[in-house]
Amino acid sequence: MKLQLALDDITIDEAVALIDRVRPFIDIVEVGTPFLIEDGLRPVRDFRARYPDLPVLADVKIMDAGHYEARQAFAAGAAYVTVLGVTDLLTVKGCLDVAADFGGTVIADMICVADLPDRIRRLEDLGIKALAVHTGVDQQAAGRTPADELKVMKEVARQSELFVAGGITPATISQYIRLGADVAIVGGGIRHAADPAKAAEELARLAHRETKEREE
Ligand code: 5RP
Ligand code: MG
Repeated sequence: MKLQLALDDITIDEAVALIDRVRPFIDIVEVGTPFLIEDGLRPVRDFRARYPDLPVLADVKIMDAGHYEARQAFAAGAAYVTVLGVTDLLTVKGCLDVAADFGGTVIADMICVADLPDRIRRLEDLGIKALAVHTGVDQQAAGRTPADELKVMKEVARQSELFVAGGITPATISQYIRLGADVAIVGGGIRHAADPAKAAEELARLAHRETKEREE
């Protein structure tokens, strides 16, 4: 399993200081939605230049103008761009077309999708190869976790890499490993840990050990 660091409520300087501490433990760095709202695509360009071996994900959560918005994010250097799975398939198709030009990956974030199996099938038929189960910050505050939706996704998805997000910490990552996620996305569980580097190291130890065991 890969580990993705989500940077949400953070400045560019704070983000660089954090990445420098956790770089050995993470596989993907996400410029999160609130960070993009604050700083635009500048952190994507900065991280691309500063950490050439670290893939950058732009969590733009595209809902419309798929071709145009995905192009902006890929052109800035993102390897991964998110589109909302609830949106029109025309928008998703626009994102996929641009991703093909850039050799990038579009992740469909399934937050608030009502009929998960049906939507997964339609998205995969369209060409989606990465899906994210996501319990949002507001949903987490109401006590929800991504576990049940990940079970459904694991059963239904046929061709996609599976990402999981929503309040994951070193204490909870094991269940998502067991449920078969390919990438754990962790924001607050690293950023707001008492010791972020220690939390990232522990998360990576669990996630990467599982990968090694799978390969052996
Ligand atoms: C919120 C997001 C976050 O990046 C994602 O939920 C990961 O953060 P956390 O681990 O703190 O839940 O996209 O919409
Ligand atoms: Mg995010």
